[in-house]
Amino acid sequence: MTHQALLQLLADMTLEEKAMQLCQLPGGVYNPEAAVTGISRYQVDPRIKQLAGSTLGVGLGKKGSGVIRKIQEEYMENHPHHIPLLFMADIIHGHRTVFPCPLGQGATFDPELSRQSAAVQAEEAGLDGIHVTFSPMADLSRDARWGRVMESTGEDKLLNSRMAAAMVRGYQGNDLRDGHSMASCVKHFAAYGAADAGRDYNNTELSEHTLREYFLPAYESAIRAGAKLVMSSFNSWNGIPVTGHQWLMKKVLREEMGFAGVTISDWDAVGQLVPHGYAADKRDAALKAMQAGVDIDMCTCAYAEYLQALAQSGEIDEKQLDEAVLRVLTLKNELGLFENPFRGLADAPRFTDADKRALARKAVAESLVLLKNEGEALPLSGKRVAFIGPYAQSEELISSWALAGEKEHTVSLWEAAQGAFTQGETQIRTAPGCTMLDNDTELSRGHYQADDWDAQNEALLRDAAEAAAWADTVVLCLGEHHLQSGESTSRVFLRLPQVQLRLLHAVAAACDRVVTLVFCGRPLELQQASRLSQALMVCWLPGTEGGNGIMDVLTGKVPPSGSLPMSFPYAVGQEPLHYDSYPTGRPKPASGWAGFTSRYLDCPNEALYPFGFGLSYGNLSVSPVTMSASELTADGKLTASVTLKNTGDLPAARTVQLYIRDLTGSRVRPVRELKDFRRVALAPGEETAVSFTVDEPMLRFWRGDDTFGSEPGAFRLWISLDSMSGEPAEFALNA
Ligand code: GLC
Repeated sequence: MTHQALLQLLADMTLEEKAMQLCQLPGGVYNPEAAVTGISRYQVDPRIKQLAGSTLGVGLGKKGSGVIRKIQEEYMENHPHHIPLLFMADIIHGHRTVFPCPLGQGATFDPELSRQSAAVQAEEAGLDGIHVTFSPMADLSRDARWGRVMESTGEDKLLNSRMAAAMVRGYQGNDLRDGHSMASCVKHFAAYGAADAGRDYNNTELSEHTLREYFLPAYESAIRAGAKLVMSSFNSWNGIPVTGHQWLMKKVLREEMGFAGVTISDWDAVGQLVPHGYAADKRDAALKAMQAGVDIDMCTCAYAEYLQALAQSGEIDEKQLDEAVLRVLTLKNELGLFENPFRGLADAPRFTDADKRALARKAVAESLVLLKNEGEALPLSGKRVAFIGPYAQSEELISSWALAGEKEHTVSLWEAAQGAFTQGETQIRTAPGCTMLDNDTELSRGHYQADDWDAQNEALLRDAAEAAAWADTVVLCLGEHHLQSGESTSRVFLRLPQVQLRLLHAVAAACDRVVTLVFCGRPLELQQASRLSQALMVCWLPGTEGGNGIMDVLTGKVPPSGSLPMSFPYAVGQEPLHYDSYPTGRPKPASGWAGFTSRYLDCPNEALYPFGFGLSYGNLSVSPVTMSASELTADGKLTASVTLKNTGDLPAARTVQLYIRDLTGSRVRPVRELKDFRRVALAPGEETAVSFTVDEPMLRFWRGDDTFGSEPGAFRLWISLDSMSGEPAEFALNA
């Protein structure tokens, strides 16, 4: 449809029809059994159902596309202007084929791989008739107590920026009219990840400087990559709910970032302006959200019930309402829905199942972070290997957001092990060893009713200890339940369940080679696991090909290459914890008496395992940094280089990281900031030069006078394999 025709359509619409176009309803309103997200039985005025502009969460059930076609047919027949309904959903790391959770994808430091994964997700969901995905989640995540870190790509703004942009490009492809693509909605704008006390939905108290320096860049990166929608977040920022925040939603998002697409609230976030204490009632909430420039009200129906009256009373200018409606109609037009309201439903897939599983398997292998490997515990070389622990046979390797993913399609580690060891050269056994959870959590009471809990675990432990004694190597599969991360899953204890720790001790006592795998959606406290294991690897929530991807690394078919996207603490008391911290006026000395310095009496300042850390096979070494010059001019460049060597006899792969520190600034500057990164693979004995270009724009920051730019002076530069190691080189930026 031409823009002129859109304008004419808008002119032909009544005020009621325009207001309803800005209302989004849960999928359950249109098809109760088809909806997975949220409320499946949702009563709403038939008039709203007839005229609402969009719905979410339909097509995720097993019925998929058949449901959407029927809904669209009925909807368009009943709509006065036959405007197509927009179908949205949370496809954040997989539809039918589930990839590693986003935090695991962050660990790959491989944006291109995430772009490819997003393209697969877009095809699978697009062919099911879904038009928009609520992804990428670009919230900077520094606090492991917040369960939604699982949905993020971690604590660093550069990594998040590159991952978010790649996902947008993967979802949207080159032609949004193509049913193999989806429109991307970046979320949750803004700073939702900074929830006070790590408690979901809580206020975020950040200076404008911190917001701009750390929390906004990844959203902007997604917008620059072309994201068609932005979702406003649940949280308040400095006491004003974002979904009613005019400065954030208009000045920053629209004027500064130049976002011209559709804004949509998070689920009922418009209605929540009332419990926030920011709106007196639902009508006031509709007013404040519209004044803030929120185009679509997700599932509150505040717009459906009150926008007409607000426009008729003049409290909102109908022109503003028209602009919002035009953005929604334009999005539908960009998706080609006016010409083809059944977009995607009749298209043939381009990816084969084998393609998709191979990509998912590769993503798993690249996401795994090897934290310890002593005595060549890995790659596996044992003749008797026992796969022990509640995750060994589990198919619950997909996250709480993999709404259309089917567990039965997931390859468990035990299934993969049986496939990997077929020649009889290695005998394998398995034992669950314990329940996944202690019997003291809301989750366990809800999901694992077991009166004979203790007896059950005693028996499991005995079997596991016997299997461990039989084995020369134990692969111990521990972790966090997949429903313990995601939305509304904040935790104040990050330790492994007691039943799992008991199993760890029993296995370590029975076998002297323990390879511990940790399945989790967030950083956990792993000191005991590290101390009692010869090898330790984080597997995140690996998705459909979890078992196979992990076995590829355990057997040495693929070297581990992952790097931590979030710091793993010694203790939860360190949270929020992030590598790019400020030095303070009393930095703790690297050694010696710490006296009156910024430190804890009972814990190191640093992470147990820092951002960017990971090991590989082989034996990687990084040479000292060489610089092409020691001075940089405002319009110049310099090159920083190292030689990376693999002196081992196994292939190695890691991400080489460039960090810079601005030693003096009009605002204090972090002890290190990631400025670039690159994945490198080396065969045994191979070496390679790795060079990074440094230029003045890289050194810009929000200065003491709240302008954005660089400042002349001295800098340190590292090229290393994590955020703590390496010796710095020096250079200066000239005025
Ligand atoms: C949820 C989440 C958001 C999701 C939306 C739709 O509450 O906060 O991430 O996209 O609702 O399901």
